[in-house]
Amino acid sequence: MIRHVCVGAVLMLLINIEGTFCLYPPQDVKLVGSYLQWKKPPDEDSVLYLLQYKHGSKSDDEWYNVMSHNETESRFKITPEFYGAVFRVRAEKGNIMSEWQYSKKVQCVNANACAPVMKLSVKPEKAYVTLENMDESLEKEHGENIQFNVSFWKVDNGGYSKVEFIITNSRKHKLELESGQTYCFQVQYLFYEKPYGNVSNQSCAIIPETLEMIKSRDLLFIILTTLLFTAMCGVCIFLLFRHHKKVKQLLQPLRLEIPDHYLEFLRSGDGEFPLQACPSPSSQSLQSCDMIIVIENSSVKQKGQEEEHVF
Ligand SMILES: *[C@@H]1O[C@H](CO)[C@@H](O)[C@H](O)[C@H]1NC(C)=O
Ligand SMILES: *[C@@H]1O[C@H](CO)[C@@H](O)[C@H](O)[C@H]1NC(C)=O
Ligand SMILES: *[C@@H]1O[C@H](CO)[C@@H](O)[C@H](O)[C@H]1NC(C)=O
Ligand SMILES: *[C@@H]1O[C@H](CO)[C@@H](O)[C@H](O)[C@H]1NC(C)=O
Repeated sequence: MIRHVCVGAVLMLLINIEGTFCLYPPQDVKLVGSYLQWKKPPDEDSVLYLLQYKHGSKSDDEWYNVMSHNETESRFKITPEFYGAVFRVRAEKGNIMSEWQYSKKVQCVNANACAPVMKLSVKPEKAYVTLENMDESLEKEHGENIQFNVSFWKVDNGGYSKVEFIITNSRKHKLELESGQTYCFQVQYLFYEKPYGNVSNQSCAIIPETLEMIKSRDLLFIILTTLLFTAMCGVCIFLLFRHHKKVKQLLQPLRLEIPDHYLEFLRSGDGEFPLQACPSPSSQSLQSCDMIIVIENSSVKQKGQEEEHVF
């Protein structure tokens, strides 16, 4: 019996001691607008808070200390780099520290850094812009007061035309644009008609031409080339008629006439070359044979047929 009382007393003592050394965690940790805020633990007046964050949602992702936040202040301004992050905060007093308390994920409405996500598709004379939110927090929070400012401009030989823009609430937009031209698009949120968050990346596309435009352009090209070709032919024919005597003269030296003696030679039948008609090399030297050929070649011109019979 006494033993039981003793154990009970010791346990009570232990619990009491633990109570004095333990620290309640910060209360009511939440994201409000662009602030993370919490309340101090009950019955504590001067504690420090340690604030950490991590970007991934996996359990082995690393937690990082939020710089410049190890103080008694119980709120923290969220800057754009914390988009998508989760925070945790704990109270510290001397060597004692509380459990961690976790926040929700930072969304567009907290980070003030979102841009609408834009998808672009083009058809002849048209562009379709589809807009999506990175998350739905802005619309949930601000509803109709959040709008899209879709701006677009034409890119021409490296220059830019005036920027046009449309303010819209709808997620899908059709724009009538000039075919065969390159256009660039970007989009930003408007909050109460003031620019809000980041500007989206630019997205550019060439607006295609309609089938009729391509066809009529091809047709025009064919007509023009045909006309040009006919005109050139006409000019040629005209010139030929006008100067046909001159042209004839010019062409004359080009006429291919085979000299008579070659014709004779070809007609002589055997078609053998004079060299082979030489008397046998045993009796006469090659040199003399060459001589005969030379004579034959020069004499044929004057004497014609007679010489042929010599060989
Ligand atoms: C925060 O400050 C307390 C007290 O000055 C100190 O013990 C603790 O190590 C600090 N934590 C960090 C992360 O700097
Ligand atoms: C918005 O732009 C800032 C720099 O201007 C950048 O640090 C931040 O990551 C951007 N936020 C998003 C959500 O793209
Ligand atoms: C929409 O965006 C364009 C381009 O950034 C800008 O010139 C225009 O002033 C914006 N419109 C409004 C109402 O802010
Ligand atoms: C914008 O472009 C950068 C780099 O080209 C890319 O890292 C980023 O994710 C893009 N942002 C959006 C909203 O597509």
